[in-house]
Amino acid sequence: MDTETSVLLDTSFKNDVFQGLTTSPKFLYSKYIYDSEGDKLFREIMNLKEYYLTDCEFEIFQLHKQEISEYFKTTDGGFDLIELGAGDGKKTKILLNYFQELGIDFTYKPIDISENALAGLEKDLNEILPNLEVEPEKGEYFEVLSRLKDYNKRKKVIMVLGSNMGNLLHLKAIEFLIQLKDSMSEDDLLFMGLDQKKEPQIILDAYNDSQGVTEAFNKNLLARINREMDANFQLDQFKHWEVYDPESGTAKSYLVSTAAQTVNIPALNLEVKFDIWETIHTEISQKYDDATVEWLAEESGLKVETSFTDSKNYFKNYIFRKK
Ligand code: AVI
Repeated sequence: MDTETSVLLDTSFKNDVFQGLTTSPKFLYSKYIYDSEGDKLFREIMNLKEYYLTDCEFEIFQLHKQEISEYFKTTDGGFDLIELGAGDGKKTKILLNYFQELGIDFTYKPIDISENALAGLEKDLNEILPNLEVEPEKGEYFEVLSRLKDYNKRKKVIMVLGSNMGNLLHLKAIEFLIQLKDSMSEDDLLFMGLDQKKEPQIILDAYNDSQGVTEAFNKNLLARINREMDANFQLDQFKHWEVYDPESGTAKSYLVSTAAQTVNIPALNLEVKFDIWETIHTEISQKYDDATVEWLAEESGLKVETSFTDSKNYFKNYIFRKK
């Protein structure tokens, strides 16, 4: 990258797009899907019948809220419930509501990269649970985690739901878990929802829905580059393609160029050439089994305390402690 170009790249989004589209094979990071259009499409995905993850985690909370509360609550001093990537908190509300019914002393601290999502969630919670103490914080996971280190007034329960960690490759996931572990004290818990390996077709369908919502979600990366960088990606010249490897448990999303074409990205001073059938890798969604989760915990200085599953064994919520 020459100096003229690097001066132009004043944000990490621009930098990462430049990097990803000038490398072979091409890639874009899935975290950039989530502008307000991407947030909206993800909410639609969570309501799709093929996207079983949300309903399964919802069912786990309904089935096991009593046992979960036994792990979270303290006999004195209460606890802080910190949720990374809270979104609209649809599933969390079951737990929040139940803890309030039991009169458990706790504060809810939702953390999300989207200011919009946090404002909506706070407003919503003020209406349905007016006595709940809510302390939202905007930020990216890794950045907020370093701040959480000093957040040690009382027991912490850190939640990462929706298999959000699955969007990280194992090595990145270990880095993430180590940071979580470093922010935890002896009594603190990590409560994490992780999607499980299962009949491969069910996984493929979840990421390739019949209504094309996941396709639009994936293509929002290109649409966002068009909007924010004045680019001219023709969305109908790219095909959403999903693969799932049942051995590694990794689902991968691609955008495949259906024609030889050149795309202009004026904000990056860049012309990107695509061969016909050339790919852009956009997302991984890792699926887990107990052995893999135990290994990740071991590598990160954590141990699995227990886990809860749904009636179909599609999804699991694990409780981890510091080793
Ligand atoms: C946010 N994340 C856990 C979702 C997933 O399942 O990987 C994002 C998603 N991508 C396509 N559909 C949903």
